[in-house]
Amino acid sequence: MRAVMRRIGLLTGGGDCPGLNAVIRAVVRRGGDAHNLSVDGFRNGWAGVLEGTAVPLNAESTKGILHRGGTILGTSRVNPVDADGGVERIRDVLDLHGLAGLVVIGGEGTLSAARRLSVEHGVPIIGVPKTIDNDLGGTQFTIGFSTALDVATAAVDRLHSTAESHNRVMLLEVMGRHAGWIATYAGIAGGADAILVPERPFDLDRVCRHLKHRHATGRSFSIVVVAEGAVPAAGTMVLPDYERDTFGRPRLGGIANHIAPHIEERTGFAVRVTTLGHVQRGGSPNAFDRVLASSMGVAAVDLAAEGRWGLMVGMHGNDVVPVDLAEATRELKTVPLSMYAVAEVFFG
Ligand code: F6P
Repeated sequence: MRAVMRRIGLLTGGGDCPGLNAVIRAVVRRGGDAHNLSVDGFRNGWAGVLEGTAVPLNAESTKGILHRGGTILGTSRVNPVDADGGVERIRDVLDLHGLAGLVVIGGEGTLSAARRLSVEHGVPIIGVPKTIDNDLGGTQFTIGFSTALDVATAAVDRLHSTAESHNRVMLLEVMGRHAGWIATYAGIAGGADAILVPERPFDLDRVCRHLKHRHATGRSFSIVVVAEGAVPAAGTMVLPDYERDTFGRPRLGGIANHIAPHIEERTGFAVRVTTLGHVQRGGSPNAFDRVLASSMGVAAVDLAAEGRWGLMVGMHGNDVVPVDLAEATRELKTVPLSMYAVAEVFFG
């Protein structure tokens, strides 16, 4: 028998990424067609829920958005759990709008807040994992990662020819706050000569010795991919302090610029820096992200229609399956050392 539930809320929180609109479209289309369910879209992530600003979504208003980057709902990095009276406000807004629960499309910050709301306060939530960083547990891949990886790989490819022409060391800084998924995958895909990731604290002296060895043995250029969250090994180097967001996380960016002069000084090679920044997050999702986002959107609204709250949808093998939201957000998913070891094979 179909569950008695006709209205849910939907929001996109945290950093945007390619594929969010594809999830919105899938939730609305599947919700309406298969479950007779209407969807209210909250503006700007948790901020919109706290303000109670929702727009009714339907097949017409979500038409033509599958291939569009960003999110038609807008997003923010607001933490609702620690906001004064935030939890009560969320409950009130759900009641006021007659919502059975929320489908929350988010990354680590947004879904950690969702977990606390769900586990500690009993708010009915289904999570959908998105982040170009790919660092959420409970899913092999997150929405947006594949597209960001394409952008980063294209950048490595382009840097090769100019590095080669000038005998330079090129540093490419990519996103990846706590995990070096983009750096490692783009490094392998683009044939990087060194990769610095948060999972493997780096010793710059060692990196420089490696670059000098390369150049002494016939190579005239090197490409180093640096994750923005890469950290120096204890006692080897001090990084500047970063500002923090409302979740208390540092606003990263700039590590490659910081280490470049040190590499120049220690190797004598000319070094240039490219910081990819938000180019990785903007623009159209690739085919993989469109399919993943559509599948996850359908799975999420099916769970909501069945009233199976407290879950997240995750990609396991070729399937999208329900996983426990608390379990999925307990620990960040970092790059396994075995994968980094594959990249190392090609550093020589
Ligand atoms: O969380 C995803 C992410 O893209 C991180 O890789 C990066 O550190 C951060 O967002 C940048 O955030 P903002 O867009 O707020 O500068």
